[in-house]
Amino acid sequence: MASKIISGIASIEVNTSDPFQLFYLWKEEAFRCLSKPNTLNVMNLATSSKDGCVSNRNIQILRYDPDGFVFLTDSSSRKAKDIADNPNVASTFLWCYSNDGGEIITKQIRLQGVINKLDLDQTKELYDAAPTFRKIRYNVCKQGLIVDQKEIKKIHDKILEDVENGRILEMPSYVAAYKLLPSAMEFYYGYDNFTADRVLFTYRGNNWNYVHLSA
Ligand SMILES: Cc1cc2nc3c(=O)[nH]c(=O)nc-3n(C[C@H](O)[C@H](O)[C@H](O)COP(=O)(O)O)c2cc1C
Repeated sequence: MASKIISGIASIEVNTSDPFQLFYLWKEEAFRCLSKPNTLNVMNLATSSKDGCVSNRNIQILRYDPDGFVFLTDSSSRKAKDIADNPNVASTFLWCYSNDGGEIITKQIRLQGVINKLDLDQTKELYDAAPTFRKIRYNVCKQGLIVDQKEIKKIHDKILEDVENGRILEMPSYVAAYKLLPSAMEFYYGYDNFTADRVLFTYRGNNWNYVHLSA
């Protein structure tokens, strides 16, 4: 007798005209089901240089706004230079986990849009809210420089000692905050052996509209 094939079609229920609502709904379940929430705020971000050279890296989202995703980085980094030359970016969140019913869930949220640099007040607010270990990191690292790790350790250890003796770590001038404002948000949902569904929201004329796409 032929073995039973387990297969099916996953379907995304879209009960909102606002993709951010769907994003937060998905995020709530993923963060509940995944055991290490600190890694969940991580988003992969692809930028492109003036001459069309693409690069990507993971970054941590520090603030989820109703219209975008906010992170801190170094204004002298490759990504910051790319964004200054070309604010058009693409990014993805990937959440794979076992849900409350034991299904293996695969969710991807893909964003396309522009990135804006935020003002100094907002940057400082995010920096001030950071835990001390991260403030130390911001003060130790100058992204993209070629370094001697032994020298970096010496600088780190001195800063740590100063902090333990009461030094307040001011925000370095090169720390910069950015917001990704998506104009397209694509949701991919699959589970177990089921064929996935995709929903693409696009922002046009002050409204979000969506279609299902073949996975
Ligand atoms: C999980 C994770 C989170 C990260 N979060 C950030 C971040 O929030 N900001 C940042 O500038 N770099 C972050 N990084 C480091 C970047 O991936 C990257 O190495 C660095 O920003 C330099 O990138 P660039 O040279 O392309 O600009 C993170 C790396 C990992 C693995």
